[in-house]
Amino acid sequence: MPGAQDGSVIEVLAGRTGVVLAVGDDGRLHQIAFGADVAGRRPELPVGLHPLAHPTFGEEVGREAALRITHADGATSTRLRFEAVEREPHEHGEVVRVHLRDRVAPVSVTLGYRTWPATHVLEQWVEVADDGDAELVLHRFASSAPALGGADPRLTHWGGGWAGEWRPVTEPLRRGTKTVASFGGVRPSLHLSPVVLVEPDGPASETEGLVGACALAWGGDARVDAEVTTHAQQRLVVGVQHVGAERRLGPGERFVTPSACWTWSAAGRGPASRALHDHVRRHVVRDGLGIRATVANTWEAVFFDLSTDGLVELVDRAADLGAELFLLDDGWFGGRYPRDDDTTSLGDWDVDRSKLAAGLDPVIERTLARGLRFGLWVEPEMVNPASELHDAHPDWAIGEPGREARTERHQLVLDVLRPEVAAHVAGAVHRVLDAHPGISYLKWDANRDLTEPGSPALPVDRQSHLPIDRVRATEAIFREVAERHPDVELMACASGGGRSDLGTLRWFHELWTSDNTDPVDRVRLQWGASHLLPASVLGAHVTRWGGRPIAFGAAVALSGRFGFDLDLRTLTDDEAATLADAAATARLVRDLVQQGDLHRLVDPVGRDRGALAYVDPNGGRAVAFAFRLPDGDPGPTDAVALPFVPDGAGVDAIDRTPRPRGEADRAWRPLAGPRLAWPVEPAPSATVVELRWG
Ligand code: GLA
Repeated sequence: MPGAQDGSVIEVLAGRTGVVLAVGDDGRLHQIAFGADVAGRRPELPVGLHPLAHPTFGEEVGREAALRITHADGATSTRLRFEAVEREPHEHGEVVRVHLRDRVAPVSVTLGYRTWPATHVLEQWVEVADDGDAELVLHRFASSAPALGGADPRLTHWGGGWAGEWRPVTEPLRRGTKTVASFGGVRPSLHLSPVVLVEPDGPASETEGLVGACALAWGGDARVDAEVTTHAQQRLVVGVQHVGAERRLGPGERFVTPSACWTWSAAGRGPASRALHDHVRRHVVRDGLGIRATVANTWEAVFFDLSTDGLVELVDRAADLGAELFLLDDGWFGGRYPRDDDTTSLGDWDVDRSKLAAGLDPVIERTLARGLRFGLWVEPEMVNPASELHDAHPDWAIGEPGREARTERHQLVLDVLRPEVAAHVAGAVHRVLDAHPGISYLKWDANRDLTEPGSPALPVDRQSHLPIDRVRATEAIFREVAERHPDVELMACASGGGRSDLGTLRWFHELWTSDNTDPVDRVRLQWGASHLLPASVLGAHVTRWGGRPIAFGAAVALSGRFGFDLDLRTLTDDEAATLADAAATARLVRDLVQQGDLHRLVDPVGRDRGALAYVDPNGGRAVAFAFRLPDGDPGPTDAVALPFVPDGAGVDAIDRTPRPRGEADRAWRPLAGPRLAWPVEPAPSATVVELRWG
């Protein structure tokens, strides 16, 4: 058998994550093992009794299929046979391609794997090619469909809508198929976070139990089907949401799915998350090993109410408090249609001279003169019907002939499948950046989903290609902007965390985690997000949302990529001193928060307490957070054990809880236990301590 090991076995290993495949006597490809520590596993039964590696419609009767094709001759079943395997190194691991072909139809299918051994991540994707001389239809085209063995399988997924991202559901998988999916295509992670956990042997803890995490690297709709058959066979089918996205493939055409990124841990959820964090920092986001600046944003401070003087005042206050980057959010643009609220002007990316008579320059100059970087908000994929762009090009928005073009947030999605529209969108961003060389950061927003998903750029019989092709056309714009402006940092936002997937984040440095900035909700929301993303990527700002004490909000923000988003002119002296203290602390501990190893200690979801720590990967240093929350079931009240501290090590601690500080606060003291104490103040309250040992 060309390229296989041991006669018929193909092993693909990425650190502790791996898959073992084998070819049966009849040429079908089977999965022998998948998950943690599978190196060396060999078939215990005849190969043909193991589950199929990539189940196709019509091959396994009565089961979910990962691939469903209507072939050119009308046949609906696909029976794949092994042809060859190719292996080649890449900079960080190996690319393995397992080539399969239908027994009858001229269709070839490649299972692609890319290994990242240092971060224990195994990427899988699928390629389908029409090798014949007539068109076929792809109805379903999952990226990964491994079988999962286990006595008590659980699935954890997150979602929750605008301002409610990352609410977890953990459920036992019982007979039948459990589907979780996103819809709407532009802000999919609001509906379904782009990662799921499977725990085949029952609930895992942070430190114990078998856990698989699967993140789909795709900025459009996703779908996960978790199947348990009457014979208790289990499988997870992960991929792009295929409903409404059927694809025609013409002669010679090839469709490549996005990647599903798997990591496995036999020691609980903690190692799985840390592997993903490492992976995201090293191989996904841009400059992932860089340290992120402290941002002062204008959105929750002043919303659309902008003036040069007001902004200059905010810049000065931000500089005084220790911010490093001033971000001018929505409201700065518009010509004939002033943007005083969200009903107008998207598409008109010229500075609104009625608010900012001398343009952005005076604000940028003041920002740079105060030693801060300057950032700007844009939402270039969208257009308001009330805009000069829409007046000039009413047909540039996505829509279907004769159907009402419904708006959401008073806006429409520009049809970037049309080359002239894509060029205009990218050009608008280039123009803003070229005109203002002082801008070194963009918050790139997208605040609605798709409805009436039609485009004249697609033939009548390929309109269903839009949901996928629009994501790829948008990625091409991200890529162009990233390449043309390599020094401009990009924050992804889509009504908050609507684009938190590893596909989109390849072009970005960080994410606006959620529009919900109530720090009580944020403790839980950021806990959820930490199952995929490192804190360096998770924008976390101190705001007035929820009316919580500033010290508490600042502590919560310190546990992510720290920033402010409130009217700094309204702070009391005490609040200002607290924020300045937090900004100083951010500079002291952000190497740990942004680049350290996360240890989740007490789960705050549904409870009135939560705790976590970020640990220097070389040991000897950590920063720990303990939160008391005003709602939820009573959590543990005993001081929190610190499992990352070596046995017997004496630990010193210094209090870094945000507050106006006196000299007495600046002392290292031995930490009793060593354990992390809960705050003594009533909820909502927090303690932040830096720890050192050894
Ligand atoms: C979205 C974003 C917010 C803010 C507003 C501006 O809602 O998620 O952070 O930028 O748009 O309109």
